[in-house]
Amino acid sequence: MVNSEVYLTDVTGRDGFQMEKSWIETDDKLLILKGIIDAGIKRIEATSFVSPKAIPQLKDAKDIIKDLKNEELTLVALVPNMKGAEYALESGVDEINVVLSISETHNKKNVNHTVSESLEQVYSIRKLINSTKTTLNISLGTTFGCPFEGKYNVSKVSSVIEQLLENGIDKITLADTTGMANPNKVSYYMKTLRQKYPRAQFSLHLHNTRGMGLVNLLAGYNAGVRHFDASLGGIGGCPFAPGATGNVCLEDIVHMFMEMGVPLEHPINLLKLINTSNDMEKILGYKLPGQVMKAGSAGEVIKN
Ligand code: COA
Ligand code: ZN
Repeated sequence: MVNSEVYLTDVTGRDGFQMEKSWIETDDKLLILKGIIDAGIKRIEATSFVSPKAIPQLKDAKDIIKDLKNEELTLVALVPNMKGAEYALESGVDEINVVLSISETHNKKNVNHTVSESLEQVYSIRKLINSTKTTLNISLGTTFGCPFEGKYNVSKVSSVIEQLLENGIDKITLADTTGMANPNKVSYYMKTLRQKYPRAQFSLHLHNTRGMGLVNLLAGYNAGVRHFDASLGGIGGCPFAPGATGNVCLEDIVHMFMEMGVPLEHPINLLKLINTSNDMEKILGYKLPGQVMKAGSAGEVIKN
């Protein structure tokens, strides 16, 4: 029997901002992230420790972590390699999220490694953090398909998951980097993987590239997944995957689960999230894809 509670990780600071071409001032990033925290989100992937040549937007990673560090928060940073893990550890993050892709082509373009080289990095990082309080998560990009290689089936993903589990790593995020999943596929993947690997804690990181983000998320929930990534206003995407667009929108997910009566791990103030999303829209200077920020909650009655 699975717990019904939903656990959300906000990835606005990492997946969201990494896709923004114009420089966002560090203070503006912090204002947005603090708005999300103030609304009740307690797990934040706030930035990444990657090459500033690859993602110039996140070159202020150290300052972001230093400013947000707080005992009540779980601060996560994405890293692509050992060097990133060393920087992340020095900065005091609570969790290191190592990214690698199921697709050899995307992994090469994204982190300049083969999949097996990336796995070697993962095992070295696990050793590095072994004696620390920092935890480890692995995000597997392009799990449902890759723009360069096409669609995948669950067996391709299983082989990487098995190698991680054999090495004692059981927190695993499946990322649909360019929105190639559909609800039936998510349901089949997650039922199969949860049954096959009961020890693993799976999260879903879904992009709304083809308008199926929220239905895919619900399919994951109905298949027993309880951990999801999301970004405020639905911003984000991988700059090294053609056609990539935003994540499933944080406030739209919160709204959906609230309307359905599904409990969230922590109480979340939806209005504060919507206000922060509107503030972010002004900072970024374009219309964001989020829906509830435009229409308000279905629970709101408009007085005429
Ligand atoms: N953080 C900061 N700098 C890093 C770094 C890290 N994690 N890893 C490597 N570097 C630096 C090296 O010190 C070196 O610097 P130098 O040119 O001043 O000597 C330079 O980057 C090249 O190092 P190298 O190991 O040869 O890396 P690379 O050129 O093969 O690039 C990555 C590999 C992983 C560093 C790069 O592709 C990357 O940062 N990718 C991130 C992609 C990403 O974030 N995608 C979106 C999220 S899914
Ligand atoms: Zn993503």
